Amino acid sequence: MTTLSVIGNPANRRVTMFVRAALDAGLPPPRVYAWRDVLRGGPLPGPGEVVRIDSAGEDAEVDRLLRGAPAEAEHGEIIGGAAAYAGLAAALHRVEAAGATLLNAPDDILTMSDKRRCHALLSARGVPVPPALPAVTGYDSLRAAMRSAGWGRVFVKPAHGSSASGVLALTAAPGRVEAVTSVERAPGGRLFNNLTIRRYDREADVAAIVDALAGDGLHVERWFPKAGVDGRTIDLRVVVIAGEPRHVVVRASRSPLTNLHLGNARGDVARVRGLAGTRAWDAAMETCARVGAAFPRTLMAGVDLMFGSRWERYAVAEVNAFGDLLPGVLDRGEDTYTAQIRAALCAV
Ligand SMILES: Nc1ncnc2c1ncn2[C@@H]1O[C@H](COP(=O)(O)OP(=O)(O)O)[C@@H](O)[C@H]1O
Ligand SMILES: [Mg+2]
Repeated sequence: MTTLSVIGNPANRRVTMFVRAALDAGLPPPRVYAWRDVLRGGPLPGPGEVVRIDSAGEDAEVDRLLRGAPAEAEHGEIIGGAAAYAGLAAALHRVEAAGATLLNAPDDILTMSDKRRCHALLSARGVPVPPALPAVTGYDSLRAAMRSAGWGRVFVKPAHGSSASGVLALTAAPGRVEAVTSVERAPGGRLFNNLTIRRYDREADVAAIVDALAGDGLHVERWFPKAGVDGRTIDLRVVVIAGEPRHVVVRASRSPLTNLHLGNARGDVARVRGLAGTRAWDAAMETCARVGAAFPRTLMAGVDLMFGSRWERYAVAEVNAFGDLLPGVLDRGEDTYTAQIRAALCAV
């Protein structure tokens, strides 16, 4: 019988739900390799093991190990995204070399975890994405690039960010600038990820935030006006498993940032489907399948799909390598982890 393993932070809910799904499927208990041990040179899964690689996020010590930084970042501080990404790349390549069967290919995880590379790949595959600005190195370069593109509204995203951390919805016009974001700028200029959405309208503050984030790389896209339902902005998280769009959650927000941990609500999928109409809905799901096909060595991809204010338009905001934490959402009676385990066992 196949033995499943997982590399992740053991307390992480994605890990515990995956383990639970394996036990419920009648499999032996998966072996859990903690990222903190893997990063300290501990044992790696080897030939004969089938491995889910889970996120290394949400653990301060693992983050320090990834960044190779002895200095303590404060809780929630937005710091060192590029260094953490480099550490992750090195670790994933060691995991790959150890010879286990991986459910998600390291190169795909790394592409999804760099919004610039992911956007370029999707764009090359003809997947609809909002247009992006060429490399932005700071606030002045951002404003210059916006002027030459003729864009007044953009989304500024840390290249290696997730969970809306460091994302700014930015509107700029002559003499006026406004950024909507979960970034909190502390006295002294350090940036923190916060659960409260803030508005900054002093240009000096916005410039300081953008300049601080730019050191770790930025991806800037034109603001895609998202569909609204009952006065809330919405988008979808679509979990693609083995190439098939499966579990869907509507994320509804009073701000332009829909990430659920920001206190946003789950919306009604059937209602959104009705508003979009069969043709647009099917085309959007077909697009999600094409995103999955862009990552052929990866079992699961979490696609953030935006419908436009005119429902027949849609675009992909990003692809999440670990975007399957949708507790309580079933498709064909399976949660996201059970669906992946079944798909994986059929393939192995
Ligand atoms: N180009 C865009 N136009 C409008 N909204 C966007 C755009 N890009 C992202 N968003 C919104 O911003 C939020 C976070 O964006 P996302 O790209 O998914 O980054 P993260 O990894 O931080 O979740 C989501 O609510 C998404 O709908
Ligand atoms: Mg997202």
